[in-house]
Amino acid sequence: MRRPVVAGNWKMHGSRSANGALLRELEQRLNPEWPVDVVVFPPFVYLADAARTLDGGQIRLGAQDVCAEATGAFTGQVSASMLKDVGCRYVIVGHSERRRLYHEDDVLVARKFAAVLHAGLTPVLCVGETLEERENHHTESVVARQLEAVTAMNGAASFASGIVAYEPVWAIGTGRTASPQQAQAVHAYLRSRIAAQDANIAGHLRILYGGSVKGGNAAEIFSMPDVDGGLVGGASLSADEFLKICEAAAQRETVSGTVRP
Ligand code: 13P
Repeated sequence: MRRPVVAGNWKMHGSRSANGALLRELEQRLNPEWPVDVVVFPPFVYLADAARTLDGGQIRLGAQDVCAEATGAFTGQVSASMLKDVGCRYVIVGHSERRRLYHEDDVLVARKFAAVLHAGLTPVLCVGETLEERENHHTESVVARQLEAVTAMNGAASFASGIVAYEPVWAIGTGRTASPQQAQAVHAYLRSRIAAQDANIAGHLRILYGGSVKGGNAAEIFSMPDVDGGLVGGASLSADEFLKICEAAAQRETVSGTVRP
């Protein structure tokens, strides 16, 4: 059975006091019975603080990015082992904002994925097409290229300890979410690409949807058989919204009642 994940990517938002208040409220109100892995991704400078606030709680900590190198003269960069050292368990790699605004290519993203695994952390690989690519029917070729850059470098087995997040660029921060059917189609396609290399790993791989997930639309999206939770931006900054999304992910398992591979 694939346990759902709800991941809150705070992007470049927050402050020490706001983060502390949000995390304490989430820890208080998150139902420990909900079968869902909940992870938050604050900006780098707040990670150590967040780790202290979350110590011993149910919520796990992740970083929004990482350097592909292990150590050395890389001014401004942060390595995977440093992230582990301050309490992170997850690291996002290849977010579309990193690809688009900071020109990260597939090979660099694959190297970051490898660095995260090497440190014993869980990489969350983001893939997704732009609106133009979708309109030109290139969705599948784009996400396959992004996915297979990672398998080419690290092997399909690397996804035994990784997570994939499908985030269509046109749905991020726009209020325009992919329909559940659109998300399901791409998720099933991504799973089939991994299955072509290793069916067992594909069956266990958690594939999250990201792009304007809110409390009001999460249940519908999470009801799709290949959607194993969400990578949430804006709505992860509100305790009410984020908790609704966590509840929707938790109920998905109980309601569907099916034993997933
Ligand atoms: P929004 O939920 O704000 O659309 O952001 C999605 C995202 O980019 C999460 O990584």
